[in-house]
Formats: sequence, C-alpha cells, structure tokens
Amino acid sequence: MGPSVKKPFEERNLHFDRLIGNKNLKWLGQNTNHIPCHPAVREAMLRCIADEEFHIYAPPCGIEELRALILDDLGLPADEFSVLVTDGAIEALYHAVKTWVGSGDRFIATDPGWLWPHSFARAAGATVVSLPIYDAAAGYRLRPEALAAAAGPETRAIYLVDPNNPLGSCQTAEEIEAIAGIARKSGALLIHDCTYRHFAKAHTLAARFYPEGTVTTYSFSKWLGIAGLRCGAVVARRDMIEELAAAPPNNLGSSILAQRAAIAGLRHKAEWLPQVLSIADANQRRIAAAVQGVEGLFLPVYPSNGNFIAIDVTGAGISPDALAAAYLRHDIMIRQASYHSREFADRFIKVGTTVPEAWVEDFCTLLPGLVAEVAAAAGTARVY
Ligand SMILES: Cc1ncc(COP(=O)(O)O)c(C=O)c1O
Repeated sequence: MGPSVKKPFEERNLHFDRLIGNKNLKWLGQNTNHIPCHPAVREAMLRCIADEEFHIYAPPCGIEELRALILDDLGLPADEFSVLVTDGAIEALYHAVKTWVGSGDRFIATDPGWLWPHSFARAAGATVVSLPIYDAAAGYRLRPEALAAAAGPETRAIYLVDPNNPLGSCQTAEEIEAIAGIARKSGALLIHDCTYRHFAKAHTLAARFYPEGTVTTYSFSKWLGIAGLRCGAVVARRDMIEELAAAPPNNLGSSILAQRAAIAGLRHKAEWLPQVLSIADANQRRIAAAVQGVEGLFLPVYPSNGNFIAIDVTGAGISPDALAAAYLRHDIMIRQASYHSREFADRFIKVGTTVPEAWVEDFCTLLPGLVAEVAAAAGTARVY
C-alpha cells in the first residue's frame, strides 16, 4: 500500500471528523441524547469552568459523592459493591476484559451486539462465540437455553448488552436469573452492559443473583446526554473493584468536568428523566407510524427499551448500508446493521429517539422515498 492510500482507521476518523464539522447534521445514528440538558447540569459544568477546577486531577476511582450516587441509582448495597468511575462505559468494558480475559479463553456474546468488547477479547487472545438473537420466536433476546448449550468450563466471560443495542430488547427477570445461574455454574464472569438500563420498561440487574461474578457497566452518555464528556463506571463486588483498581488505564481520575455534570444529573434525575423518556416514546411512535406506511419494513422490537429503534428492511430488498448512505446525503446519520453484526448485516437500520422531534419528522418524511431510491439503485455503499 503506497503512502498516499489512507489506512482504514484514518478514513474512519476523517469520516467522523467531517460529521462533527457538519453543523446541520441530525444525529440519529449513535444513540446519543440531544435533549437540552437540565439547568443544574449546565450550572455544575459552568461552575467547574469558572472555578478553574480542571487544573486538578479527580480522585483515581472517582469523586466519592458520584460513586455513592451511582450505587444508589443501581440500588446496590455499599457494603458489598464498589464503583470505579471510568472515561465512559467503554473504558469500563475494556478494563474488565483486559483484566480477566486472556489467551485461549472463550468469550460468549450475542449477535447482533455491541462489538467493541468482542474486539477487546480477541485482542487479548480469546475466542469470541456470538450467539444469534435476531429471532422473533426468542423475542430478539438471549435464550438462557442457548447460553447453557454454549457455556462450559472454558468460558471466561459472558458479555450481555441489556437492553440490547441495537435491537432494544430487554431480558426478563427470570432470564437474568437463569443467565446468572449459568455464568456461576461455568465459573464465568458475567459482564452486564447496562448502558441503556434507564430506558427499559423494566430492568433486572444480574448482580442481584450473581454478586460474586458480575461486572455491571454504567454510562452517563445516553440517559444524561453527555457522551462527549466521557463518563461511566464499572460496578462490582468490592474485591473485584480492588483488583481493577490495581492497574487501571486511567489512574489519574476521569474528567472532573464530566463528573460534576454526572453528580448534578443524578441529583436531578427524578425531574429530568421522565421528560427524556416521554420525548423518546413520542419519537418511537412517530417512527412506528412511518414504518407502517412503507412496504417491506417492520419493527422487530416495539416498544424499544433503548433510546433507539431498529427497523428491519429485509422485505424491501435494500441494503441497510445503502440506506444509511442515502440518509447521510440528506444530513441525517442513522446506523446500519453492519456496525452491529456480520451475520445479520443485511437486515436492519437503527434510529435514535432522544432527539428533537423535527429530526425524527425529517427522517420519517424521507423514509418512503429513500427506500424506493435505494431499491431502484444498484451498487454498494460504504458507511462507518
Ligand atoms: C452497548 C454499549 N455499551 C457501551 C457503550 C459506550 O458507552 P460510553 O459512551 O459510556 O463509553 C455504548 C455506546 O454506544 C453502547 O452502545
């Protein structure tokens, strides 16, 4: 490859750099939350800046008040569990996988899923086994029986995104109990990625059933809408957090600005979250109505338990990548299935719902025409 040919990661970065440079872009592709933030969150950040608090490092495991608020939000007891605040949930996932998953291990995940932790496991030398969940009969969820058949003594970790990104399905309490039991029986770590927990109609923490082997990851990016500030956490039993705290990727503390925002967010969550959920619900309904009007499309999971909704496009005979590329030409970013799955890459697109109503209206208005346009056009498209 000659020096003038761009490497894939350079291409990808340029793509996202162009996106952030486009001030007209409607962000419907990354499950980000674009609802204007609570005044208390804004004030907390402005105070942090005005006081120039950013000259200092935050405590290595997070501001104590924030750690306590996160445990409280999850309803886990402080005498048993502890919190390590991280630069987003992704760092929590990276750190857990790097600490406990190694060469020759088996790492069980779902397909579709959120693929970055799969890459972390592969980079650590593990074999990734993805269990298919794109199945109406299973409610697009992980069936405990399928997990039991795949898990064994060589299974080092089970990675469960619940609610599932991209599908918006959520495991039932009975399923979580069964999954936790399977993890315990195989001696595997259960990584319960709860990034979208706040949008679920009902959500059960696996840590309740399997406290000694569950790692719960937490994010402020989605419910609080501070993705760009990078704030999340890993929550686990105190002995496990002690192990994680021995060599974390960032021992100098996560962004103090982000943590101030997160503290204010949790303090005002009761006033803020219901508004966010009602906007997301209304947007889901708009999308559902638009989908109903286009032949060949359907919603696998409705209502979704995430701040996004997946739309199956198989019946329209179109490529999700091509549809995403067509939307981008209209300054709308949506997600294509290939970001979440190889096996089901030709099945669906995904659209965010914690966004201004006008963005969703634009998405819906364009939907029939763009589906027809993509169906009529041949060729492939490249999106990221
Ligand atoms: C399932 C899942 N886990 C983790 C993350 C990362 O979250 P954060 O922004 O807190 O790093 C995402 C982001 O999209 C996600 O979808």
